[in-house]
Amino acid sequence: MQSADGRDTENHIHEAAALRTLNAFAIDLIAIPNIDDLFWYVAKKVVGHLNFVDCVIYQADDNQTVLTQVAALGEKNPYGRSIVNPLKIPFGEGITGQVAQNKQPVVVDDLLKNQNYIPDTQPARSEICVPLIIRGRVVGVIDSEHPRPGAFGEAELEVLTTIAAMTSAKLELLAEVARSTQQYHTLVQAHASLHTETVSRKALEAELFTARKLETVGRLTGRFAHDFNNLLTVISGNFELIEAEIVSPAAKECFGEAQAAAAQGAKLIRDMLAFAQRTRLEPKVVDLNLLVTAACDRSKQLLNGWLDIDLAPDLWSVKADPKLAEEAIYNLICNARDAAPKGERPIISTQNIRYNWADSDKLGCKLAQGPYVRVSVKDFGQGIPAQNLPQIFDPFYTTKPEGAGKGLGLSMVMGFMQQSGGGVSVESDVGFGTTIHLYFPAIAGSANDLLTMNR
Ligand SMILES: Nc1ncnc2c1ncn2[C@@H]1O[C@H](COP(=O)(O)OP(=O)(O)OP(=O)(O)O)[C@@H](O)[C@H]1O
Ligand SMILES: [Mg+2]
Repeated sequence: MQSADGRDTENHIHEAAALRTLNAFAIDLIAIPNIDDLFWYVAKKVVGHLNFVDCVIYQADDNQTVLTQVAALGEKNPYGRSIVNPLKIPFGEGITGQVAQNKQPVVVDDLLKNQNYIPDTQPARSEICVPLIIRGRVVGVIDSEHPRPGAFGEAELEVLTTIAAMTSAKLELLAEVARSTQQYHTLVQAHASLHTETVSRKALEAELFTARKLETVGRLTGRFAHDFNNLLTVISGNFELIEAEIVSPAAKECFGEAQAAAAQGAKLIRDMLAFAQRTRLEPKVVDLNLLVTAACDRSKQLLNGWLDIDLAPDLWSVKADPKLAEEAIYNLICNARDAAPKGERPIISTQNIRYNWADSDKLGCKLAQGPYVRVSVKDFGQGIPAQNLPQIFDPFYTTKPEGAGKGLGLSMVMGFMQQSGGGVSVESDVGFGTTIHLYFPAIAGSANDLLTMNR
């Protein structure tokens, strides 16, 4: 059959079929999710439906220097959708390379007469090639060859140019979506890191605030306790001098009460000085297992043997003031008893610990790297509500009924541990209990100790 321009129409596009294919393409375009699917769809369902015997699509690189085959339909690609060894064509080389460089479509009626034609495994006689352009940049080309000369005319050029325009529009849209997604992720990441930064800055500020508050209160308490201690020393000294003079039983009883009150006052002052880190420490090399045992013995009356003890063998030695260390451990035992007077037995344990920076998050207190002996008192009592945790080391902070607690136990513990170069950490779960750990810096005193440390 011959058309008006004298060409053979059986190879040519049927107008109605072209319109139907383009319509379907316009509708399907919306749902095509990515570039790979788009290229394959264009090659197979658009060009492949329109009497073209083959279709090869190339994508241009960002530098506009080379085209890479991304989809191929027809005998040149027997592998279906996958492209094995994709062809690469430099801009300006061959017909496709020239189309990419000149940004103009080309129809070649007879390839044998065209000097740009680079024949491949399936030599053809005619070729049509149109560029894919976005905002003046070539992003690819759509190419088709035919074994017979003069296979492509105005109609094919018009249809393929329309397909290229629609493909380019979708490519632009996909690029925009990718850009927005990237921007969204960048924003989300920026927001997340800002949030983390704010949270850690707030935590740091809170830590600094607590440290400053304790330092200020400590300074005040220290000055006051020091003066008061001097007064008490005078009172106790005079008591001792006049004790022998008192004969009447009634006066002796009053005197005994006065002495007991002075002793209580002295203990109060000792705790306050310890909190203020103004105690004159007398450190000695000690075995904390012995001090824990002593503190437990002392609390026997208090607890009626109601305590589990788990002491580590080969415990490293520490250098600490033994009296105050025992006092600190005893204070923790008293708190454990108060937290669960009738519940499960508290456990007191000792352990050798080697502390690394990597553990700092888990630890809950600031320590220098190195070996420590940890004394832990764990109870299964009511626990400490999170909002109370920042206050428990404050002097005179107590939740116990009037007369039951002075709120000096933990502040003494904290002051003493810090003055001794160690630390205190707390783990508490409301309804499940509390564990308070004391970290004493260990001394690697013997070969045996060193061996244990390096294990
Ligand atoms: N093991 C624990 N379980 C629950 N809460 C605790 C525990 N240890 C301490 N606390 C809380 O911390 C507060 C302060 O403890 P701290 O030992 O300093 O004072 P106290 O026990 O109230 O009085 P003091 O020790 O002077 O007799 C307690 O009143 C209590 O609210
Ligand atoms: Mg206490």
